[in-house]
Amino acid sequence: MALGGDWDTDAYGPADIDAAEAAIEAALDCGIDTFDHADIYRRGKAEAVFGEVLARTPGLRERIVLQTKCGIRLAAGERPGIYDLRGATILRRVEESLERLRTDAIDVLLLHRPDPLADPEDIAAALTSLREQGIVRRFGVSNMNAAQIARLQRHLAFPLVANQLEMSLDRRDWLEDGVLVNTPAAAAGGFPSGTVEYCLDHGVRLQAWGALAQGRFTGRQESPAERATARLVRGLAEAKGTTPETVLLWWLQRHPARIAPVVGSGRPERIRACRDAALREPDLTHEEWYDLWLTARGAPLP
Ligand SMILES: NC(=O)c1ccc[n+]([C@@H]2O[C@H](COP(=O)([O-])OP(=O)(O)OC[C@H]3O[C@@H](n4cnc5c(N)ncnc54)[C@H](OP(=O)(O)O)[C@@H]3O)[C@@H](O)[C@H]2O)c1
Repeated sequence: MALGGDWDTDAYGPADIDAAEAAIEAALDCGIDTFDHADIYRRGKAEAVFGEVLARTPGLRERIVLQTKCGIRLAAGERPGIYDLRGATILRRVEESLERLRTDAIDVLLLHRPDPLADPEDIAAALTSLREQGIVRRFGVSNMNAAQIARLQRHLAFPLVANQLEMSLDRRDWLEDGVLVNTPAAAAGGFPSGTVEYCLDHGVRLQAWGALAQGRFTGRQESPAERATARLVRGLAEAKGTTPETVLLWWLQRHPARIAPVVGSGRPERIRACRDAALREPDLTHEEWYDLWLTARGAPLP
């Protein structure tokens, strides 16, 4: 999402392509080979600059896993943004993504957000057609709850493989949901109960967007709990011979769902700071994992 220049213009230039190339190279150097896109990122320019790098780098496409998303229509003029998961729209959006990415196949397509008007049978027909034509290999969803995933899955002859949700040491409601059971605070949680468990039981890999909490524990902390957590993160990083960014990502990866963090930085140095999350097993004890959670939570468990 960080690639392709600013959000408000349609044009990109050579510097944007070079920046994308530097980010991709930094990721590959760290053993990161999966790249997360969406048709809307930077109004298509994120895919476009990525496609330019693919076109000028022989062999790169075969070395990577390319994921993109469709289903959001951005605001345009007076018209606010809406969601659109009609089958015909999915087919058209995928075609456009292929053109921008300069490739003939997408490895994973995620449905970006649930569209209340969408018909699961219509969606399933579009996904099945994309699969049969070899245009998309696997499918998943994003920002969906267990019931929505199960409902779509009933119409598909192949498994949904991923659900991308906002999850981080800052965005913890997916964990709170599990421990506030039978407490008055449960109703205020807001996270769709049972979604993590559904994904674990059905082989739907959880992917965490916002995994670095936009820097809230690695340089941009504001509240006392954020500052205390940042100190703890730094201390653990030093003790383990790694970076604070890695500790944040390990905290997600250490969960039994082996949550896959999606790193949103476009800066090579910050991408490199995530290296050990790709190359080392999460090195956090049971107690250290809870220390991180409870410090960020700023309150004891029920
Ligand atoms: N499925 C969805 O609905 C959805 C929604 C949003 C995002 N996503 C995906 O998830 C990815 C990650 O999401 P995200 O970008 O929100 O999360 P993130 O990885 O937590 O945050 C990355 C952003 O935070 C900045 N940042 C990180 N550490 C910083 C620090 N110490 N000081 C200052 N700035 C810092 C980065 O700036 P620099 O670039 O300068 O490093 C970048 O702008 C996106 O790229 C996208 O692929 C998906």
